[in-house]
Amino acid sequence: SLPQKKSAPPTSALCKDCREKINKVLEQYSKAWKKQEEPYQKFRSQLSAKCHGLEKATITQANTPVGTKLVYDGEKKRTLQVNLEIFSTFFKGHPFPNKTWHTCAVVGNGGILANSSCGKMIDSAEFVIRCNLPPLSNGYEKHVGINTDLVTANPSILMEKFGALMGRRRKFVESLRSYGDSLLLLPAFSFGHNTPVSLRAFYTLEDFESPVRPIFFNPGYLHNLALFWRSQGLRTIRLSTGIIMTSLALELCDNVQLYGFWPFDFHPYSFQTLTNHYYDDRKTKTKFHAMPDEFNHLLRLHSQGVLKLHLGHCK
Ligand code: CDP
Repeated sequence: SLPQKKSAPPTSALCKDCREKINKVLEQYSKAWKKQEEPYQKFRSQLSAKCHGLEKATITQANTPVGTKLVYDGEKKRTLQVNLEIFSTFFKGHPFPNKTWHTCAVVGNGGILANSSCGKMIDSAEFVIRCNLPPLSNGYEKHVGINTDLVTANPSILMEKFGALMGRRRKFVESLRSYGDSLLLLPAFSFGHNTPVSLRAFYTLEDFESPVRPIFFNPGYLHNLALFWRSQGLRTIRLSTGIIMTSLALELCDNVQLYGFWPFDFHPYSFQTLTNHYYDDRKTKTKFHAMPDEFNHLLRLHSQGVLKLHLGHCK
C-alpha cells in the first residue's frame, strides 16, 4: 500500500528544483496501478524483435561456437575470436528454460530500499534478479529479501573488493554463499580489461566447486539493447545494470516488478535524505550513466502498466 500523495515540504527544507521533480514523479506514480496487457505485449515484442534476449542475452556454447568473432560492446574496435579454451568457459545448456516466469522482481540497489520492508514481497517473485553482488544479510533481509536467481557482477567490484582475484580467492567464493546456486552474470566482453578477471572468476568458482553458475553477457545483446533504448529517446553513454536487467526481465517474465530504483537524494514520501545504495553511499559515475533519464523511462512504463515500480513501503 502506498502512502497518500503528499506535497514536498517547503522550499527551505528542500531545494525548489528537487521539490518540483518529486511532485512531478508522484503525480505520475500515485495513480492506481494495473497491468495493461496491450502496452506490455507491444513493448515486449519490440524488445524481442530488436534484442532477442531470450536466446541472445547471454553467451552459451549453443549460440557462440568456436571461431565466433565477439565484438566488445564498450570498445567497438576490440574483437576476440573464440578459441577452445574460452569456449570451454561458456555456459552449457540454456540458462532460461523455454518458459515465461509469472513474476520477476528486479532489485536495484537504491537507498530507497533501506527500511522498506519489501523483503517478503521480493522473495515471493518466481524469479529474483539482483545487481552487482549486493549484501543480503546483516539485517538487510527484511528489506531486500534473500532469494536470488540471477545476480550481476561488475568487474570493478572484483577488482576493488577481491584484489582482481589475483591472490587468495576463498573470500570471493565465500561471499557468494548468500546467492545459493544462482546464475552470476558477468560482462566479460564489454571492455578488454573485463575479460581476464571474468575468466578468473569462472575458474575460481569451478576450482572451489561453488554452486554459483557463472555466465557471460553477450556483447551483441548489450549493443542491440543500447540501440533500442536510444531509439526510445534515452541518451546515455552506458546503460546502467538496472535498466539492462529490467529489459531482460520484460522478455523473460509476464509481470515485472522493480524495487530499489530511485536515483534521487530524497525519499519521495518521507523526504528523508537517502544514501545512493541501501548498503553504502558510493556514488554513481554520472559521466557514464544517466540514471534520472532512465528512471523517467521506467516511470513511463509504470504509468503505461508495462511494469510496476515500487517506491513506497511494502506491507
Ligand atoms: O553498476 P551500476 O552503477 O549500474 O549499479 P548499482 O549502483 O550497483 O545499482 C544497480 C542498479 O540500481 C543501477 O544500475 C540502477 O538502475 C539502480 N539504482 C537506482 O535506480 N537508484 C539508485 N540510487 C541506485 C541504483
